[in-house]
Amino acid sequence: MSSKTKILIINGPNLNMLGVREPEIYGRVSLDEISHICVSHASTLHAELDFRQSNSEAEIIGWLHTARDNVDGVVINPAAFTHTSVAILDAVILTELPIIEVHLSNIFKRESFRTTSYISAGATGIITGFGAMGYKMAIDAMLDLIRSEVEA
Ligand code: DQA
Repeated sequence: MSSKTKILIINGPNLNMLGVREPEIYGRVSLDEISHICVSHASTLHAELDFRQSNSEAEIIGWLHTARDNVDGVVINPAAFTHTSVAILDAVILTELPIIEVHLSNIFKRESFRTTSYISAGATGIITGFGAMGYKMAIDAMLDLIRSEVEA
């Protein structure tokens, strides 16, 4: 069994369309490119990364249930489910893991309905508005969180 720190990154609905979807808001980098950036960044930091996307709320909830006993922390961009899903919030809470919520755009600078996140109540912290770089920031923050907990 590997003793590497394991991070799961979950991406919600429509994020598979990054690069072509509203590039003026979300940028021109595809989710595949973000995945590659994240996997190689994590590996330089001796962490193992599982990077996923789903358009299904049920599938995301299932991944969170499995994460509870299998990873050390979860980074999640819940996309539109951010603003609607108590079920994902409940699943985030039951993981009992460090959770970092990421958004490419600054959700506080957009339509008023986007300023409410159901997920934040279960998150350790939030990174919003830094585009694709936000994922790298989340990996760094997650490893600091996990590793300083171990050292403390
Ligand atoms: C998003 C912001 C959400 O409001 C939106 O529904 C998304 C992407 C972001 O990364 O900026 O799909 O989570």
